[in-house]
Amino acid sequence: MTALTLGDYENLARARLDRLVWDFCAGGAGEERTLTANMAAFDDVRLRPTVLRGASDPDIATRIFGDRWAAPLAVAPMAFHTLAHPDGELATVRAATSVGMPVVVSTMAGRRFEELVSAAGSPLWLQVYCFRDRFRTQRLIEHGERAGMNALVLTVDAPRLGRRLRDVRNDFRLPPGIMPVNLDGDGFSSPAAHASAELDPTLDWSVIDWLRSISSLPLLVKGILTASDAERAVRAGVDGIVVSNHGGRQLDGVPATFEVLPEIVAAVAGSCPVLVDGGIRRGRDVLACLAVGAAAVLVGRPVLHGLAVGGQEGAAHVLGILIEELTDAMTLTGTPSLADIHPGLIGH
Ligand code: FNR
Repeated sequence: MTALTLGDYENLARARLDRLVWDFCAGGAGEERTLTANMAAFDDVRLRPTVLRGASDPDIATRIFGDRWAAPLAVAPMAFHTLAHPDGELATVRAATSVGMPVVVSTMAGRRFEELVSAAGSPLWLQVYCFRDRFRTQRLIEHGERAGMNALVLTVDAPRLGRRLRDVRNDFRLPPGIMPVNLDGDGFSSPAAHASAELDPTLDWSVIDWLRSISSLPLLVKGILTASDAERAVRAGVDGIVVSNHGGRQLDGVPATFEVLPEIVAAVAGSCPVLVDGGIRRGRDVLACLAVGAAAVLVGRPVLHGLAVGGQEGAAHVLGILIEELTDAMTLTGTPSLADIHPGLIGH
């Protein structure tokens, strides 16, 4: 079968990956209501095209923190791309670079920061989990900054790991050789046990000042789901917000990200870029997020599917499909540039 859509890649990847690894990547917390809702929210979107706008060949390049992105798209931070393909994040970074897209590299990446930065031709952002041991967190950030990461993304929806029932039932352990190679310490084999021992559950807003005191990189917070938290983040002086429910992997029952995106965009009122992730599987889903005011979107699991199916080439194809579909959706809705995308594109 020739894969034409991200759905095709998902089906091919499911057939290839070990079942327990598949469950770890695909699964969500609890009954997976939020996981399902993320995607269902986009199924309900109806686009309202404007005709005869001469919108062939739309310009989809954008700028974030002064960097040029080929499209308003980046790879979401995910642990252990090495589970999907031995080249792991190295293949992802090369794939993203080939299409001009940034990658958010997880604290739990399976490949070294240095090799990722040397392979990268587009920005790399470091996703940060804050550990109980602040010095360990500081070492991680200093390592990332020294290696050449361009921004920090603090994940704020994980004071502890969500209850991912598939992994509990499977008693999921990382296969031999899969490790967070940028972290010191040990005891990583069960991601859930490691997280509950190491993640700082007492984290509060003072962490923003602490991060500012140890790093001069732009700082985003990832995992905001309400207007009031978005306002709080802006007051704390963050450089960007990622609206996220961690792909439905943290608290089951929270809203789909697309549902809360408009209220957060309104609350932020242009003070900083608002990005979003969760369930984005088609170019028109990207267009819908941009229409309600996202500066860019992050895509998660489909990148792992691309890796599982075809390594670097597979991941590049997945990202390329999204770019092509976004271009197509812009042409067909009569929006020749990102600046022409507006809330009126979405109707009910
Ligand atoms: C994640 N996600 C995640 N987020 C984060 O901040 N740090 C991390 O290490 C991880 N690890 C991780 C592993 C796997 C296997 C998945 C699927 C997800 C969450 C991720 O950044 C993002 O929020 C969601 O994956 C986006 O939803 P979609 O695109 O996967 O639906």
